[in-house]
Amino acid sequence: MKSKEKKILGILGNPLKQSMSPVLHNYWIKRNELDSYYSKFELEKLNNISVAIRTLNIKGLNVTIPYKKKIIKYLDKLDKTAAVLQSVNTIHNKKGKLEGYNTDVQGFLFGLRKIRQLNKKKPTIVLGAGGAAESVVYSLRLIGMREIYIMNRTKNRAKKIAKKYRGVEAKNWIDYNLINKAGLIVNTTSLGMIGYPSLPVSLENTTKNTKVYDIVYNPIETALIKEAKQKKLEYVTGLEMFLGQAQESFNIWFNIKPKVSSYLISKIKENIKTL
Ligand code: ATR
Repeated sequence: MKSKEKKILGILGNPLKQSMSPVLHNYWIKRNELDSYYSKFELEKLNNISVAIRTLNIKGLNVTIPYKKKIIKYLDKLDKTAAVLQSVNTIHNKKGKLEGYNTDVQGFLFGLRKIRQLNKKKPTIVLGAGGAAESVVYSLRLIGMREIYIMNRTKNRAKKIAKKYRGVEAKNWIDYNLINKAGLIVNTTSLGMIGYPSLPVSLENTTKNTKVYDIVYNPIETALIKEAKQKKLEYVTGLEMFLGQAQESFNIWFNIKPKVSSYLISKIKENIKTL
């Protein structure tokens, strides 16, 4: 009897060794006394993925690198955000119909709300021009930020995103004329992440009202965050975006907005340290 089966959830990507999503979702599943389990699906390729989801009656999936775009052709429907971004990080199996969502936007905004005084009139710098950068730009436009500059090592990728959104311009990689007068600086590159070089951006001459948001969460305190802290700038770490996107995914699957307690945050921080 299907209704009594344990509902399978999970994350689809490759590699998944460092994914914190199972720890987080299994904690929420337990706290909410749901008969469900969240696993890792580290697949080499996506062939027959839609058949597999339906046959195994998988209730929902998160999708990560390298499948956020590649998964789209296997889905029946996309929500507006996923369609605009052409990127899916959450799948909901609704009675065999596979729906794609992108909760990175709500996740980013969840973190951004932690900033007490965000000056929307000052320029925002987005470092990087990959998939994560586009969801950040989309989020910033959604809340009415009007002056957004994308700086990326490969300028053409920045231009491609800038063309899609109003109030967004591509600039050269690390242009201090703009960085030093920014209201908000967001790192969306892989730089600063474990195994990558650190981000070669200095906050030395930024204003005291500049806010810093690094979406990297492994480690939680990147060199950029450490510098912001040292300069007593308001900052947001990638842990917030990670928690925010997960909360939205959980809500899509169960119609429950799970709680982010300080106990949960310390549990995740501990797990990240062991990676
Ligand atoms: P995601 O979808 O997670 O954003 P991605 O598309 O691989 O991942 O994007 C990675 C980002 O980090 C890009 O902006 C990339 O810059 P390029 O477009 O020039 O590749 C940036 N990045 C990665 N390594 C970098 C490095 N060593 N120096 C500067 N930027 C780097």
